[in-house]
Amino acid sequence: MAATNSGQALAYTSEVAKATAGLYAKVANVVPEIEWPAFAPLIAEINRLKKERNAVILAHNYQTPEIFHCVADFVGDSLQLAREAAKVDAKVIVQAGVHFMAETSKILSPDKIVLIPDMRAGCSLAASITGADVRLLKEKYPNLPVVTYVNTSADVKAESDVCCTSSNAVAVVESIAAERKVDTVIFIPDRFLAQNVAKQTKIKIIAWHGQCEVHDRFNADEVRRFKADHPGAIVLAHPECPEDVVAECDFAGSTSAMVNYVKEKRPARVVMLTECSMADNVAAEVRDVEFLRPCNLCPHMKRITLQGILHSLQTMQYEVKVDPAIAARAKKAVDRMLEVGKPKPAVH
Ligand code: 13P
Ligand code: SF4
Repeated sequence: MAATNSGQALAYTSEVAKATAGLYAKVANVVPEIEWPAFAPLIAEINRLKKERNAVILAHNYQTPEIFHCVADFVGDSLQLAREAAKVDAKVIVQAGVHFMAETSKILSPDKIVLIPDMRAGCSLAASITGADVRLLKEKYPNLPVVTYVNTSADVKAESDVCCTSSNAVAVVESIAAERKVDTVIFIPDRFLAQNVAKQTKIKIIAWHGQCEVHDRFNADEVRRFKADHPGAIVLAHPECPEDVVAECDFAGSTSAMVNYVKEKRPARVVMLTECSMADNVAAEVRDVEFLRPCNLCPHMKRITLQGILHSLQTMQYEVKVDPAIAARAKKAVDRMLEVGKPKPAVH
């Protein structure tokens, strides 16, 4: 039996077992068999209801494997999900990710209904800066363009010249600096991403003091100890990690850039210094690579569950709305980012 958010019980019948057997095969090495009867009825019902509602599920790489591999229609990093949201052909988007991602989908697809299963799925970076803060920065540095990481509210995006994600940050910084003929840009709100970008470009960067509460917890000593204990293991890191952590790793890039690294290079043993579900999702597909810890959990991403997604589809809650005037200004900054060529993984 699987309990839904409304208390309804969904049974693990032989029909459900048969209908979901192919999906279980995809996650068999990361989801214990004993857990499947709790997931399978929810998965079957979500996949049925998705068609009835003309809905698609966009899932970030940090979602758990039963969401990522069993109900998502599109998966990826923030940039890939934004590109998908801009062109997806459906009436409803259910965002299996955090609130700023759902807002980005709504900004790019204003005519669609965008749902998030849990309104509390926030982000420490998005919470670190407001539109008023950006206006003050612009007063202080009137001639400098503002490059804004997508991990921000629509209000903040609306005050920005261009957005970026971790997979295109260097290209975006260089392109706006060239366009505006300046050698310095304001880069908000992630101070670590700003430092990691600054190492890869000649453009000077004025940063904000935000940080990701998940990546901030990694430290360089821990990485050095890990490398000493696991000689030969490859270390991958997200550029939201502190600069000295990134300096210790073999490769730094967006979530999808790390996935691609593992799929292409097939290291025997790897650690991903990022959110824990990443390794589970790749391990489900890539079975000849050993994934080592540490990793950290994002409490916001983990608010999204199968029960929550089903509840969203059943009740059409919780709808993410953005004031049309703010959305129109924010869209300019997001569209400008989408125009900056193909995503280029950050290299270290
Ligand atoms: P990506 O764009 O690399 O997927 O990062 C999103 C995020 O929230 C990382 O913490
Ligand atoms: Fe925000 Fe960090 Fe969670 Fe990503 S991992 S959603 S940046 S708190």
